[in-house]
Amino acid sequence: MTSRALVALASVIDPELRLPITELGMVGEVQEDSDSVNVVIKLTIVGCPAAQSIERDVNQALAAEFKTVNVVMTTMSQEERSELTKKLRGDRPPKFNPFVEKDNLTKVIFVSSGKGGVGKSTLTVNLAVALAAQGQKVGLLDADIFGYSVPQLMGVNQTPTKVDHLMLPPISHEVKVISIGFFVADNQPVAWRGPMLHRAVEQFLTDVFWGDLDFLLVDLPPGTGDVAISLGQLLPKAQTLVVTTPQHTAAIVAERSGAIGLQTGQSVLGVIENMSYLPSKDGPIEIFGSGGGEAVAKRLSELSGAEVFVLGKIPLSQELRESADRALPIVVGNPEDSAAVEIISIARKLIATPRGLAGKSLKITPS
Ligand SMILES: Nc1ncnc2c1ncn2[C@@H]1O[C@H](COP(=O)(O)OP(=O)(O)O)[C@@H](O)[C@H]1O
Ligand SMILES: [Mg+2]
Repeated sequence: MTSRALVALASVIDPELRLPITELGMVGEVQEDSDSVNVVIKLTIVGCPAAQSIERDVNQALAAEFKTVNVVMTTMSQEERSELTKKLRGDRPPKFNPFVEKDNLTKVIFVSSGKGGVGKSTLTVNLAVALAAQGQKVGLLDADIFGYSVPQLMGVNQTPTKVDHLMLPPISHEVKVISIGFFVADNQPVAWRGPMLHRAVEQFLTDVFWGDLDFLLVDLPPGTGDVAISLGQLLPKAQTLVVTTPQHTAAIVAERSGAIGLQTGQSVLGVIENMSYLPSKDGPIEIFGSGGGEAVAKRLSELSGAEVFVLGKIPLSQELRESADRALPIVVGNPEDSAAVEIISIARKLIATPRGLAGKSLKITPS
């Protein structure tokens, strides 16, 4: 006989793990008759931040089926927790980087730029949210250790819940997010050197429960430093998206950030020109000049031997800047804005790219 209670409980999704609680071993003893039900729900950890929402959803799901509902909330034993983390890791050993597996189909995208201030983080966040809004499962790794800004841009700032050694990334606008900023108190600067940096970014891959992702977007630090090289080795299948402004000098440094990716084995996915022009009633005004995007694409085509395209040109937009300050990415806050329209169109191109063709040059339509 199927349990009506279990069927109802299968509709309750754990908000951090995004899986039904019935599959996570969170449902303990169940007693039911035609009118009433008693269930024990086992949370992963004491003080689980999702406790309230799980309790509410469990009560709601059961109240639809039974007149009398009695829910007792407890916590898993150490053994049950180990069982769960083992299951979440898919029986792979701890300290395992899932993105290097042969059958891993996640499109890993490095967003890089030659220098800071070109809008790399703003674009990474908006692309991630735009992809998620189109039904993709998306992770966002803020690897800009010294200049992290993703927590502010996504409006999340919480230390991830830890289930044993597995970190559950907070979810914002349906994107799983990890940033060094979650682990640093009071905006303290991070003063680390090579080996510690390498360990930190490695942990972001091995110790975080990303689940099955369609996309992992990585906000790289500007330039060509330790972190970019470490990540290049840790994520060999990644492809690089190079962000530049139209300005000649910006294009020259942006080219180097694509070139370092080529050296660590990443192919170039494309170029985004940001702050391309200011729309006006008399036509676009090219505040930062023009041609930067094309120049970078041309040079990276020569260096890589495969054609690299400009995937989009994002106009200057006051609304984009303001929405970043408000932690409401413009692609969901005001998708009609001209910058948002362009970012959403780039997201569509990324979705249309065939997956799992690491290291091969992908022919995507130029903008
Ligand atoms: N297209 C744009 N129009 C207007 N402001 C922008 C645009 N792109 C980025 N910005 C603003 O430029 C600044 C730098 O952007 P940010 O994403 O932090 O750059 P980076 O990560 O490359 O250092 C931010 O204040 C951001 O809001
Ligand atoms: Mg940034």
